[in-house]
Amino acid sequence: MQIRYIYLALIASTFFLYSCSKSENPTVAGDPSSFGQLQEKVLSKVCVSCHTSGASYASESGLVLDAKVAYENLVGIPAHDPNANAESVFRVKPGFADSSLLYMKVHGIPQGKLYGSQMPLGLTALSIGQQEFIRQWINAGAPKTGVVADAALLDDTTRPPAADFTPLAPPASGEGFQITTGKFDVPASFEREIFVYRRLGNTQPVFVNHIHTKMRPNSHHLVLYTFAPDTDPFYIPPFDIFRDLRNPDGSYINSTVDQMNFHLFLGGSMVQEEDYWFPQGVALPLSANTGIDFNTHFINRSSQTIPGECYANIYTVPAQDIEHIAMPIFSFTTNINLPPHRQTVLTNTYPDTMQSPIHVFMLTSHNHEWGQKFQIKISGGPRNGEIVYESTDWSHPLVKSFDPPIVLNKGEGLTTVVTYNNTTDKTISFGLTSKDEMDVMYGYFY
Ligand code: HEC
Repeated sequence: MQIRYIYLALIASTFFLYSCSKSENPTVAGDPSSFGQLQEKVLSKVCVSCHTSGASYASESGLVLDAKVAYENLVGIPAHDPNANAESVFRVKPGFADSSLLYMKVHGIPQGKLYGSQMPLGLTALSIGQQEFIRQWINAGAPKTGVVADAALLDDTTRPPAADFTPLAPPASGEGFQITTGKFDVPASFEREIFVYRRLGNTQPVFVNHIHTKMRPNSHHLVLYTFAPDTDPFYIPPFDIFRDLRNPDGSYINSTVDQMNFHLFLGGSMVQEEDYWFPQGVALPLSANTGIDFNTHFINRSSQTIPGECYANIYTVPAQDIEHIAMPIFSFTTNINLPPHRQTVLTNTYPDTMQSPIHVFMLTSHNHEWGQKFQIKISGGPRNGEIVYESTDWSHPLVKSFDPPIVLNKGEGLTTVVTYNNTTDKTISFGLTSKDEMDVMYGYFY
């Protein structure tokens, strides 16, 4: 109720501001001011397809760029991206293009910063002139009115050289292994999700305590799987062959889908670069000659083929340094049925079936764009009902570490509470494409 009220008040005040300022400084078509031109030639043309009020990408990014509100949503507003926000980055910091998220997102995220993907997502980068126009406008104080940047730049069509992508350097000898997908094509107007089964290269059993991943821009996720030990060899894929999840017409390739039923989660990331360390003394065992099924999903909304490529460094520790063996959590339900035009909350309890007590030290989640909120609660025991995890950004779900770990005794477990909002005309059920939904809890315990 409270939130709704604030929301209504915000909408009302935005309208009020807009109607007051309309006559003096319209940001509508034909507005000659620098911001008016930017809105007309870039934001409304290229960005609003995703960043429009009510669109799932707009709620995910927290950014609406519709002409009536774009200026107010950009200038002087803290970044929504959790990493940028934690570093006090603003979307537009007047006078400082290089430290404004808007400019970084269109020009290229600086090396070492984990601020999500380059914009426009899945499309060709803005032209050199358009990027320069944004830089000039921000450096001139990012005014709402007045001409402060060279308007001719907006019509420039020179494409910048393909964004530099620096591969992840492999671990030093003896410290671990690197696997990569290798470079592959993502055709125009296509979402390509591939699997490729790679040899880790370990001739002896190893213990993993640290996973560093990196992917090229326009990626949606990266997941590393092993196969359950009792998997029928029929379902284990051959090494080094790219297996697509979808045919060019979008239909599933059933053999790939079938293999997915035997996966065990090893690690994963939904951001371009991530470095995950296990708690001190905890490591995950992998048997000798492990094969890892490398899965990734790239989105290409442009009219040109773009490259996809991912790296994963898997670092190991000597057995004598380990106090606890980590085990993966991979709990999901296929029982998803979301009626059209309404919110649905799905609750599933995963009881502790392992030898108790268990110590949960990491949790994360996976669902698709209709998921609004993913919560995990403790069920049973003295902490019954306590919410230990909450993520509201489906494409960058929180990966939450627990130090000290959550201890679950016999009869206790974890419950997922996932809120979906199906805004379509059709019922949505479980499935692996972005048109379907998922409800997966991942993590580790020892
Ligand atoms: C295909 C959909 C899509 C298009 C097109 C798109 N965006 Fe985005 N944008 C997203 C998504 C999804 C996110 C959040 C994930 C991320 O940051 O990588 C985002 C995040 C952002 C953010 C970060 C907001 C914040 O506060 O964290 C900015 C700034 C941004 N976009 C600007 C733009 C601009 C400018 C354009 C047009 C040149 C554009 N986007 C085009 C989908 C899109």
